[in-house]
Amino acid sequence: MKTEVLEVTEKSDNILMRAAELIRGGALVGIPTETVYGLGANALDGEACLNIFKAKGRPADNPLIVHIARAEDAESIAYTNELYYKLADRFMPGPLTVIMPKKDIIPDSVTAGLDSVAVRCPEHKIANKLIKLSGVPIAAPSANRSGMPSPTTAQHVYKDMDGIIPMILDGGACEVGVESTVISITDNSITVLRPGRVTVEMLSEVCDNISVSSAVTEELKPGEKALSPGMKYKHYAPKADLYLIDDRYIDFVSFTKEKHKTEKCVIMCYDEEKEQYENETLMPVGGKNDVKEQTKRLFNILRSADDMGAEKIYAHLPDKTGEALAIYNRMIRACAHRILGGENG
Ligand code: TXA
Ligand code: MG
Repeated sequence: MKTEVLEVTEKSDNILMRAAELIRGGALVGIPTETVYGLGANALDGEACLNIFKAKGRPADNPLIVHIARAEDAESIAYTNELYYKLADRFMPGPLTVIMPKKDIIPDSVTAGLDSVAVRCPEHKIANKLIKLSGVPIAAPSANRSGMPSPTTAQHVYKDMDGIIPMILDGGACEVGVESTVISITDNSITVLRPGRVTVEMLSEVCDNISVSSAVTEELKPGEKALSPGMKYKHYAPKADLYLIDDRYIDFVSFTKEKHKTEKCVIMCYDEEKEQYENETLMPVGGKNDVKEQTKRLFNILRSADDMGAEKIYAHLPDKTGEALAIYNRMIRACAHRILGGENG
């Protein structure tokens, strides 16, 4: 199959109509969103959604997120409640995914047989318009092959999906850079399953009964059941071994300079540290306090390090607060918990 990559804006009506036609006809389309690129299919078409799993090489027990154009469109696919609408008022459209009991119209292949469905209303103008033009909710996981970092540009999607899907909409680089915050809700409580741009702190302004799944920061213990199936898989893994350095205990610059003498490694330093290096291979992550920029660059850096055949990657151990928790969560899983410094060894 030939894969078309088409540059689009929300005004590219002809191309968006063609993409909507493909979705309605059961095909898969690469779609830009504000978080990462998605691999979209008609969420009401069980067969089309099965093809998402094939295209990604995704385990069949890992459910998909269903994307809607307006928060209230959740009514047709899920049993909503008051808390959902409070969250919608504050955070939708936007990078938040809410898990609620599912209605029968959603096929089992979308939810991997679970009786709940993950609902997200993307803010990205192209994604949002495409859903409206398609006239159906769009199921879309991140558009990477399973185990690769999520794609934040159309070129990343092309690399993973060339020859596998007919069309990729190129809407430029994603603004957020990591996937949406995933929460499950009851009438009066929220459990955070995956941290993202919508932070725990922001959610607690809407609901005071909020907990964070231990899988966000810890490894699952043997035999422990993941609340969200996606959390049990090794995710976001670059081919190089990633090491996180706790810079409260180790001088990041001198340590990585020393390593660089003997190892084929990439150094993910802060922008401010660049000038302390000479000819080392640097992939600056952004300013030390610019967590948004660090988030935006993260997956692109992991992919670039792989492209250049790095064997090791050294990065600062991120914080666990606010928006940095999303970086911590992705990094800790990409590094298989290899942390250097302090009690970590
Ligand atoms: O930002 C995003 O969320 C992107 C864009 C494309 O919207 N999508 C995305 O999808 O990251 P995906 O499939 O890569 O991640 C969805 C996560 C997985 O960890 C999955 O296990 C979890 O959401 N999930 C989906 N439905 C669920 C459900 N019913 N119960 C528990 N977890 C669920
Ligand atoms: Mg994914």
